[in-house]
Amino acid sequence: MMKKVYVTRKLPEAVLQSLRQQCEVTLWDEEDTPVPREVLLERLSDADGLLCLLTERIDEELLNAAPNLKVVSNMAVGYNNIDVAAATKRGIAVTNTPGVLTETTADLTFALLLATSRRLIEASDYLRKGDWKTWSPMQLTGLDIYGATLGIIGMGRIGEAVAKRAAGFDMNILYYNRSRKPEAEKSLGIVYADMDTLLGSSDFIVVLTPYSPETVNLIGAEQFALMKRTAVLINTARGGIVNEDALYEALTCGRIWAAGLDVFESEPIAPNHRLLGLPNVTALPHIGSASVQTRTKMAMLAVQNLALAVNGQKPKHLVNP
Ligand code: DGY
Repeated sequence: MMKKVYVTRKLPEAVLQSLRQQCEVTLWDEEDTPVPREVLLERLSDADGLLCLLTERIDEELLNAAPNLKVVSNMAVGYNNIDVAAATKRGIAVTNTPGVLTETTADLTFALLLATSRRLIEASDYLRKGDWKTWSPMQLTGLDIYGATLGIIGMGRIGEAVAKRAAGFDMNILYYNRSRKPEAEKSLGIVYADMDTLLGSSDFIVVLTPYSPETVNLIGAEQFALMKRTAVLINTARGGIVNEDALYEALTCGRIWAAGLDVFESEPIAPNHRLLGLPNVTALPHIGSASVQTRTKMAMLAVQNLALAVNGQKPKHLVNP
């Protein structure tokens, strides 16, 4: 008998077809609306497997409502939306989708760095609003990227991929990580720095650490106080790593120059949120991995992890300790 799996969002048809050949699939068949909590609770009552997104909070209450559940397959590399300890206690596998989104997320991170420092969105809005009356010497001037110092906080796969791009802009690259990366230091020419040195020496600071209890509010008032007044902060990891009140304060009092944000403490961020009213904030709706190719690969990998685990085999990307 085929195992029953629940999928919390519409996936590309080819991906779903592959899953349907291996499991009995029920689906929240919508593209832009997350599955309501009560529907998810009900659907999990007889599910053997769950494929979910970072928009679903998979906690004890939900796991208790799922007596047959063997696997939670997250279609993301980050899995802070899942209570992994609670799942592990119940013998439920948790999987993620690392690797396939590395280059795409690094592309977006670098694009956001360029857009923020050269004020691309602001400049485009200026033109469209009809404010462009003449060329003038200091109009919409930004900051140079070429030859500047980049500080990367979190030197995992995506950090290394961002460093490769930065090398093409002749940037000096500092990094801070839980452990040193001697091979990457050699191959990428990156230099390890403690957190305070990195914050004080970097022109651009890119946040790429995983989100965990240790990294909540990792960047707050104390850290902004160490940054250059011309620093640009880029966050493409998780919103909660940067304290948004401290960020707002730093951006409005000229403590730092600008921020590029793809992620927010609470998503979707309210359109009237005070950060979005600042001209020196470039904001995106969590699109780091959003290319057709990469999102399709992530969905396919999530399906593979799900199908393997639900059928009693070891999935490729297990995150349980
Ligand atoms: C992830 O995978 O964790 C990203 O935030 C979405 O691609």
